[in-house]
Amino acid sequence: MINIAVLGYGTVGSGVVEIISGNRDNIKKRTGGKEISVKYVLDKKDFPGNPIQDKVVHDYDVILNDPEVKIVVEVMGGVEPAYTYVKQALLKGKSVVTSNKELVAAHGPELLAISKENKLNFLFEASVGGGIPIIRPLNQSLTADEIEEISGILNGTTNYVLSKMTKEGSSFHTVLKEAQDLGYAERDPSADVDGHDACRKIAILSSLAFGMHVDFKDIYTEGIANISDIDIKYAKEIGGHIKLLATSEKIGDQVLAMVAPMIVKPDNPLYSVNDVFNAIFVRGRYIGDVMFYGSGAGKLPTASSVVSDVVDAAKHIGTNIMTIWSSKKLDLCDVKRAKHQFLVRVATDDEEETKKQVTGLFGVVRQVRAGIDGEFAFITNDIEEGEFKEKSRQLGGVINRIRIKA
Ligand code: HSE
Repeated sequence: MINIAVLGYGTVGSGVVEIISGNRDNIKKRTGGKEISVKYVLDKKDFPGNPIQDKVVHDYDVILNDPEVKIVVEVMGGVEPAYTYVKQALLKGKSVVTSNKELVAAHGPELLAISKENKLNFLFEASVGGGIPIIRPLNQSLTADEIEEISGILNGTTNYVLSKMTKEGSSFHTVLKEAQDLGYAERDPSADVDGHDACRKIAILSSLAFGMHVDFKDIYTEGIANISDIDIKYAKEIGGHIKLLATSEKIGDQVLAMVAPMIVKPDNPLYSVNDVFNAIFVRGRYIGDVMFYGSGAGKLPTASSVVSDVVDAAKHIGTNIMTIWSSKKLDLCDVKRAKHQFLVRVATDDEEETKKQVTGLFGVVRQVRAGIDGEFAFITNDIEEGEFKEKSRQLGGVINRIRIKA
């Protein structure tokens, strides 16, 4: 029997308890005959009438000082007190499984180093892509390769919102509320909407893919708050869907990472990824293109990933599963060097005059018409971000601009 403690009985924590009890026999087989038993649940609240009530503790020291607890599952979210609790658990000889991307992005290398030193494990499959296995593939299955690009839809909430806005023409706030009610959104929805959640996730994936520390604070990040139904109309006009993409790719010796809404065309596999689904596209030098797809958020998909890590930790008591993520910081390529085509909307009361100005600055461009009065919209040729920004400033009157994924 392996005793575990679950820190946080929210959406994911309750899912973890549900899967461990509902799938007990199968899990026992997968661990080689060791039963996983939830000994404690740490939460501020009590849960009268719930079968876990007897296991609820409010004092973390009870868990920390119980030598029978071999694995701590941290599903509270946020950096503190999660970081302190996780570090204390590792220093007390307990392996840790977490779904907490904020914690992993901020302290991954340090926590991995402590777990290695103490022959323990710090596992975080559920921190990226909810139920999709992506950490283990990067860490174990694709190790013979050299990763050249990772592009993904890494936030279920914003994908749900953008998909519904595209399909049903629903308003941003109504759909966001639906996503929150379904338990997809972060406690602070701006983490989803402003791209911070996707930013932390691509930082984690990039760190694992390139073996050095990609600091999430260095990643250029834009969210979807500025995407309107008119932008979606223009995207449809050119046969695309707007998706919040998190990308990380090698450009020469450097890595360029960014998070931004982009227009994705039907020839890209990410085009058809809708609702709460996430997908991660990986391009390796030898393997070519690989795609991972599944539920990116939600109670049971995320809890399933957490429990798979618990099984892995139980199978590796006394052995560290090697993860290469050095604390040495990877200097990212300046985002000004990123090249894209842009769809640009400019306010105008004289279309011919605006067209002349646009052509003077950007060369011959393709005009896009979506039946919107008082605007001139066009698609640039491939242009670096820095140059685009300067030319847009000179043009003036830009209502919005959206990158087009190559
Ligand atoms: N808020 C996150 C999302 C949850 O919507 O993807 C999963 O990390």
